[in-house]
Amino acid sequence: MTLHFDAAAARRVETSYLTPDVIEQRRQVIAALHLQPGESVLDIGSGPGLLAVDLAVEVGPHGSVAGTDISDSMLALAAARSIPAGAAPLTFQLAGAKALPFPDDSFDVAVSTQVLEYVADIPGALAEMRRVLCPGGRALVLDTDWDSVVWHSSDVSLMQRVLTVWDEHLVDPHLPRTLLGSLKGAGFDVEPPWIIPLFNVGYAEATYSGGLIPTVAAFVTGRGGLTADVVDTWTADLRDLGPAYFFSLNRYVFLARKPG
Ligand SMILES: C[S@@+](CC[C@H](N)C(=O)[O-])C[C@H]1O[C@@H](n2cnc3c(N)ncnc32)[C@H](O)[C@@H]1O
Repeated sequence: MTLHFDAAAARRVETSYLTPDVIEQRRQVIAALHLQPGESVLDIGSGPGLLAVDLAVEVGPHGSVAGTDISDSMLALAAARSIPAGAAPLTFQLAGAKALPFPDDSFDVAVSTQVLEYVADIPGALAEMRRVLCPGGRALVLDTDWDSVVWHSSDVSLMQRVLTVWDEHLVDPHLPRTLLGSLKGAGFDVEPPWIIPLFNVGYAEATYSGGLIPTVAAFVTGRGGLTADVVDTWTADLRDLGPAYFFSLNRYVFLARKPG
């Protein structure tokens, strides 16, 4: 079973997404979209709503931002976000990526970051994304390939065991390598993709990977023979590495356009 975003898991994601690493990821996503005042934006799998708020600031009071998600806990976090003055009106609603509750040609822009890797039917989700975009509308999809992780540990075989079980938190932990073809197959024109690296050297809790450790620990405990004691050993080792701590991971970004 993939990662279930209950209240505790949603809070953990929110914490790691408030770190400077993920703030910078959102800044780069926003920059790539070249949003114009007044545009309408859909955020599919909006999670804690942090990107949706940034999008709303960017398109301003004459624009609009709609967020959808399948997790009530995530929707509650998103609904509680404070909205800066001058931002677009924001709505959040319960909906899956394969059944978006909007008419055809509704949005100028659709984004989905760190979501499609949780979705089983990629052609179905991309067809739905394309359907709700206006002709000429832009889509931005960002996902992780977990083969890109470099995570130093004093116990290499334990790290490998943890990462092997962690791969189960997604439907496809290697989605980016097939996304270009899937987007083209769904009828999008796609720009050459690029990466956003997340890179932490020296242990600090307020980093992306510092915040990720409790999420991984909670997911892997009790799976694949990983007991709570073994997982505690894994987390303590990472924190004790101090200045020798080393983590890097790639986000893969795809910017596509619906012909029209
Ligand atoms: C890792 S979070 C990313 C949240 C947000 N997109 C961001 O980047 O800040 C993944 C989110 O995808 C949502 N999700 C998973 N499967 C989904 C689906 N089939 N349709 C819509 N949302 C989904 C989860 O509930 C969760 O909120």
